[in-house]
Amino acid sequence: RPVLVLNGPNLGRLGSREPDVYGADTLEDLAALCRATGRELGLSVEVRQTDDEAELIGWIHEAADGKIPVVLNPAAFTHYSYALRDAIAQRTAPLVEVHISNPNAREEFRHTSVVAAVATGTIAGFGMRSYVLALQAIAELPE
Ligand code: DQA
Repeated sequence: RPVLVLNGPNLGRLGSREPDVYGADTLEDLAALCRATGRELGLSVEVRQTDDEAELIGWIHEAADGKIPVVLNPAAFTHYSYALRDAIAQRTAPLVEVHISNPNAREEFRHTSVVAAVATGTIAGFGMRSYVLALQAIAELPE
């Protein structure tokens, strides 16, 4: 069963980016963790990252057309991208919004998610374990 793990802007810089907030692990470490978790759960996980809103929206369309479940860290797009929200609203398979940090414990502008209401659910604040929990949720949801 395929699952797409999609990451938005600046997440390619994990490891060097604000390590006090996001930890010392790189995107490649995160991708390895997601693929290993997928193997344990019987999911075939593909991890992607982009800084480009149009590219991310294209991947959501691809997931919608293929009815592929998604784990999505929309990064800063979380807080303002109505275009991403409208793309997410088109799909029928599960989509779990994830965040490494807990946006509700941070600056005011991070307290709003414009995608949360169209996601299946949200997992935030557990570091890279947020992705593990999201993959477990997808493995347990009906297809
Ligand atoms: C983030 C939280 C967002 O507020 C921020 O813009 C990010 C990362 C997280 O994973 O904690 O880029 O989505």
